[in-house]
Amino acid sequence: MPDRLIIAIFASGKGSNFKAILDAIRAGKIPSAQIAVVLSNKPDSGALRIASESGIPAIHIDWNQFPSDEQLTDCVLGVLQEYLVNFIVLAGFMKKIDPRVIGVYRHRIINIHPALLPSFGGAGMYGRHVHEAVLKAGETVTGATVHLVDEEYDQGPIVLQRRVQVEPGETPETLAAKVLSVEHELYPEAIRLFAEGKVTVDAQHVTIMNSQ
Ligand code: GRF
Repeated sequence: MPDRLIIAIFASGKGSNFKAILDAIRAGKIPSAQIAVVLSNKPDSGALRIASESGIPAIHIDWNQFPSDEQLTDCVLGVLQEYLVNFIVLAGFMKKIDPRVIGVYRHRIINIHPALLPSFGGAGMYGRHVHEAVLKAGETVTGATVHLVDEEYDQGPIVLQRRVQVEPGETPETLAAKVLSVEHELYPEAIRLFAEGKVTVDAQHVTIMNSQ
């Protein structure tokens, strides 16, 4: 049996992906996972508000208050240890994850990106910029990607992807809304696969066993 997932959500923004994951867990769709803590660099983020309203520990860490990266990382690792976290879910988190955290949680950190990686990823590719770039490139298909987080930004091995059709007359806003609603299905699905021990990572290669 795989270990139960004890999840920390890292989020900077609205928290709609966090909410989708929480709803899936509370609906019994991911029986062997729990959200132990939500951590944010933004004190007023929707994610922290949702966590507080849902009875989940909500922790704000001010990324700028530490004299060194070393001390910031000690603080982050301390919180993760305190809540016995064994899996990290980045859900709209706007800060870089320190290599030390990646080392401790190797193959146990996932992120969701609002495009079909490796396209439209990397520096500057977040939020509206992603959908603007997709439209500017004249793509007819975009989508969402769940991937493992490693030291290279947006380049970790891909776990799941789902495609979204780009219709004529689409704007960055309409596209963002369509991709986001796909994310809300894809992210809980990816977490379920990890919770059921169906994802194995061998070097840079992800294998997913029968996903039923
Ligand atoms: C999502 O579009 C996700 O792909 C990206 O950040 C956004 C977070 O949205 N990484 P929300 O805060 O979960 O609503």
